[in-house]
Amino acid sequence: MSSLWGARFAGGPADAMALLSASTHFDWRLAPYDIAGSRAHARVLHRADLLTTDELDRMLAALDTLAADVASGAFTPTLADEDVHTALERGLIERAGPELGGKLRAGRSRNDQIATLFRMWLRDAARRVTSGVLDVVDALVAQAEAHPTAAMPGRTHLQAAQPVLLAHHLLAHGQALLRDVDRLRDWDKRAAVSPYGSGALAGSSLGLDPAAVAADLGFDAPVENSIDGTASRDFAAEIAFVLAMIGVNLSRVSEEVIIWTTAEFRFAVLDDAWATGSSIMPQKKNPDAAELARGKSGRLIGNLTGLLATLKAQPLAYNRDLQEDKEPLFDSVEQLELLLPALAGMIATITFDTERMAKAAPAGFSLATDVAEWLVRQGVPFRLAHEAAGGCVRVAEGRGVDLVDLTDEEFAAVSPALTPEVRSVLTVEGSIASRDAYGGTAPDRVAEQLKRLRDKVSVA
Ligand code: ARG
Repeated sequence: MSSLWGARFAGGPADAMALLSASTHFDWRLAPYDIAGSRAHARVLHRADLLTTDELDRMLAALDTLAADVASGAFTPTLADEDVHTALERGLIERAGPELGGKLRAGRSRNDQIATLFRMWLRDAARRVTSGVLDVVDALVAQAEAHPTAAMPGRTHLQAAQPVLLAHHLLAHGQALLRDVDRLRDWDKRAAVSPYGSGALAGSSLGLDPAAVAADLGFDAPVENSIDGTASRDFAAEIAFVLAMIGVNLSRVSEEVIIWTTAEFRFAVLDDAWATGSSIMPQKKNPDAAELARGKSGRLIGNLTGLLATLKAQPLAYNRDLQEDKEPLFDSVEQLELLLPALAGMIATITFDTERMAKAAPAGFSLATDVAEWLVRQGVPFRLAHEAAGGCVRVAEGRGVDLVDLTDEEFAAVSPALTPEVRSVLTVEGSIASRDAYGGTAPDRVAEQLKRLRDKVSVA
């Protein structure tokens, strides 16, 4: 038994205890970070005269060998190793000998180690997720660029609302995802503090400099408070939220892709590479990537809420409950690393039936607001204008025609202010072009938005 704590015990743990306690099956992915932490820790021990220069050199050489053996798979954890830290101390002692290998643990605890390594792993993961999200935004922007003037039905309550540009709609998803990228970057500022040197909870008595270790490991600063450093996991909950939010945003795009590719809508067709078939129904082309995004977003939300529940009643400082913080985060990152490239590919290769979308754009009397706003421009108060436009919808609906098909007499009967000129706004192009305030759906405004978004994606 290579336990780090066996001396005060007469016997080893029961088998079921060891099984319950073990975490190497998931925390082994932290091994390279653990070794980086050990290198930094060896250097502060040397600076504090707790290792001679020769010992430091031999320690670093042994850690290099260990790192290579971990990378090649020559060194792996055994069942008896409780966690990644224990396994790697065993590996170090096997390489450096018990005398030198046994010196490294001075002034550190697995509590400050794990809090530091988890931050390091998450900071790297956040960079990978950021680049995956940017690829999805890039695909949305490219589709918007390819369809600068295509119209579609804009919806609220999933009912026809007002015509909008397809590019405008796609960029709305892009904006949401870019905010997630901002969130990841903002999170990193708070995650970039190092708990190393906090010890078990109270700090170190050996004259070790936490700032030096922090700098060595790429952190901006050491934690201000060693109790907080070892006990807090809000950095994990915060990024779990951002990852869940990314999942939710991907799910919303996906839901639309699922609707658009139905036989009833036929607004879009998926490329064969991003669809799947049915084992029984030969005609099927299923949007499984989009459905998996929708499904996995539930899982990412679960990872966030599970972690919050784990944290909520824990007294300070470290409790073993905190070992439960890692799997939800590893899972959320892994799921997004599967999902993001697939969604980028799916979106980049969708073919839109822009003719069909444009034809559907005025359906459901989606130009009624344009009638009301035309009347307002003629000096009619909006309350009356809204009533008159509603009257036009009632007449057109009763006759089974579009607003533009009403006769001059029918318009005049609804309101004398409704002269035949009202037809000038009863086209999809006219309606879209008229919404030309900043952020609106007019082609020039969307082109400007596209350019700003494109610039953000390229500098990112
Ligand atoms: N494996 C633990 C975790 O993930 C770290 C070890 C701390 N163990 C302890 N008995 N203090 O949180």
